[in-house]
Amino acid sequence: MLLEAHELNTYYGMSHVLQGISLTVPQGEIVALMGRNGMGKSTTLKSIMGLVKPKSGSVTFKGEDITGYPPYRVARAGIGYVPEDRRIFPNLSVLDNLDIGVKGGKIADSNNPNVWTVARIFNHFPMLQKRAEQHGRLLSGGEQQMLTIGRSLMGNPDLLLVDEPTEGLAPLLVKEVRDILEEINKAGVSILLVEHNIKVALSLADRLYLMGKAHIGFVGTIAELEAHPDARKKYLEV
Ligand SMILES: Nc1ncnc2c1ncn2[C@@H]1O[C@H](COP(=O)(O)OP(=O)(O)OP(=O)(O)O)[C@@H](O)[C@H]1O
Ligand SMILES: [Mg+2]
Repeated sequence: MLLEAHELNTYYGMSHVLQGISLTVPQGEIVALMGRNGMGKSTTLKSIMGLVKPKSGSVTFKGEDITGYPPYRVARAGIGYVPEDRRIFPNLSVLDNLDIGVKGGKIADSNNPNVWTVARIFNHFPMLQKRAEQHGRLLSGGEQQMLTIGRSLMGNPDLLLVDEPTEGLAPLLVKEVRDILEEINKAGVSILLVEHNIKVALSLADRLYLMGKAHIGFVGTIAELEAHPDARKKYLEV
């Protein structure tokens, strides 16, 4: 198993926002984590990434126990993180924003043809190439999202944690971001995807976890979810 989170319990002060969350991401898959607002999806990603510290539970990645690692060590182990708020550097160019992504990640083996380079990123994101010299702040929301994803790839992750990449984007861009995630996955990057857009998630994911408040309420394939309309109703529909 590529990623295995086991029985995570995370608190913000007194509030117990993850109550025994367990999930796995097999090598090569896209796994979606879904659920209504405030259930704990982002906190689950942050707990894996080391941005918040679970009180108990464990995280294993490629067989290594990375529980309690600070974020930079989690990144170096091979996990990339695309946060909900697109944290690009507004006063740096697109190119410089990408270069920064190299530093956080894994030390790449330059003989490996699968290493992510600026050229390879531009291949996947032609719109970023056109704007290579422009400041981050001049990019549209969709372009900023592409840049955030591109930057996380520069760290050569084996697994990307992506938090609501299509949120607030126009339909055309939703489709573009969706397609890019699919391409990245085909290029060998496994993905744990938090996504509100049911259509996007169902069209990408091999497997789904549906969260209720602080817990996982349903795990299954798309076909298994289709066989359980009650679960869809309980955890997804408003
Ligand atoms: N920094 C924080 N301090 C205190 N409480 C927090 C903090 N961040 C999140 N929470 C609370 O923890 C719970 C889980 O939040 P989280 O952001 O993980 O939910 P989510 O499923 O990602 O929601 P959304 O779909 O709105 O992004 C919520 O009740 C939220 O209000
Ligand atoms: Mg969230």
